[in-house]
Parts: sequence; structure tokens; C-alpha cells
Amino acid sequence: MKKNKKALIIANWKMNPATLAEAKSMYTKIRTQAGKMQNVQTVVCAPFIYLTELQKLTKGHRCVVGAQDVFYERSGAYTGEVSATMLQKMKMQYVIIGHSERRALGESDDLVSKKVLAALKEKINVVLCVGEEERDEAEYLHFLREQVKNSLANIPKARLNGIVIAYEPIWAVGEGKRPDTPEDTQETILFIRKVLAEIFDKKIAMSVPILYGGSVNSKNTQSFLIQSAADGLLIGRASLDAKQFGEILKIANSI
Ligand code: PGA
Repeated sequence: MKKNKKALIIANWKMNPATLAEAKSMYTKIRTQAGKMQNVQTVVCAPFIYLTELQKLTKGHRCVVGAQDVFYERSGAYTGEVSATMLQKMKMQYVIIGHSERRALGESDDLVSKKVLAALKEKINVVLCVGEEERDEAEYLHFLREQVKNSLANIPKARLNGIVIAYEPIWAVGEGKRPDTPEDTQETILFIRKVLAEIFDKKIAMSVPILYGGSVNSKNTQSFLIQSAADGLLIGRASLDAKQFGEILKIANSI
């Protein structure tokens, strides 16, 4: 992590919790912790149906609420979808796009890039997820280069200040998986910056925040933030445990 820069710590609650009451209680606990952390920007990405109510609980800017997906059209006959315009009207500041769990359901790079553009046009910060399925030395960098390039296809340079990239190797995400090593993550983050320099320019490559995600917990937070040079973390399971997530925020704040 760069000195004098706030760590970006994003909770990805996925399809949890089961009730609004639980969501409010979890969010309130996280908000209390996040409110004390001057050096951390906390974002809680919750299921769509909780966003309106959680947004009402937001106080100040240290713990904002975000969405986990968005559709690229503004309105119309798209059953079940939610537009960037709708999210913008709800004052959402962040949206996760292209998470591997959505890509596994059939989301292509092309669809992802349309969603990214739609969200950026509404001035919503995009957390673009990328990551390989297997760490196959010969293939994975090539795969990542294509994924980053294609997911950002058609995005004008001028809009890139709303982009955050989350590097989430699929083999490290979820129950029973092991995290990447901070050393390997560092190399991959550098590689992603190289790709950004190829597509855009060096300045952009250095300024886009790159997060790590995949089995992050309070025990490995410090090493990822210090050794891997990640600008922050995208956290699934450990973000559902307000106590552990609070510890993660404290560690990030102290770096
Ligand atoms: P995990 O999920 O922390 O449970 O591995 C991370 C993510 O999917 O964003």
C-alpha cells in the first residue's frame, strides 16, 4: 500500500444475510468501527433489496454502501435488472462488476465492459473483478491481460478515475480455498499495472487502485496490505463477521 493513501476495504456480503434486520445490525456494527478509522475507506456491498435501508443508516463518508452488480441499459424491458441510473439516484458510490461468481453464471467480458461504462457514466465507482481460474504459469498472465483489456474495452481514459480493480484469483475465493501468497499477489498486481500502461498510459497504470480478494481474514490482512502492495482488500466471508471485519479495519488503519 502506498504511504499517505487510505486503504480501501470492501465488504462483499454476496447473498447474505437472510433478513433486513440482520443486515442493519451487521452494517451498524461495521459502521461504528469504520467511523473510527481515519486511514481507511470502508464500503459495504450488500444485496440490492437492503441498499435503501442501509443507505439511511450511513453517517459520514467512512462507511459507504455499494451494490454487487448493475445492468447497462438505463431502463426498459429487462426483467430483474437494476440500472446504474437507479443506483445513482440512490446515491450509491460503489458497485462491484464482473465478480467471478457472476462470470461463472455466464457473464462475459463484453457484458462486463458495458456494465462498467454504464456505471462510470453515472459517476459510480466501479470495483472491477478479474482473476484466473488456475495459476497455470504458462497461461494465467495471458488470461489476465485479455480479461483486463476486454473488461475495459471502450472505456474512455477520462472516466478511469472511477475504476478500482480487484484481483481475485478464483482458486482463492470462497469456502475451503487458500489465499494467494502476498509475494505472488504483488507480482500479479505489477503485471496488471503493466497491462493498464499498455492499454492507457503509465500515469493511469500507477493511479488505479488495485485490491486483493480471496480468503482474506484478520490474520493475513497485514501481509497483503504491506507485502503485496495492494491498495486495499475485497472481503467475502470475513465481512459477515462484524468482529473480525472490525479487526481487519483496525489493522488496515494502523498501516
Ligand atoms: P472470500 O470472497 O473472502 O470469501 O474468499 C472474496 C470475494 O468473493 O470477494
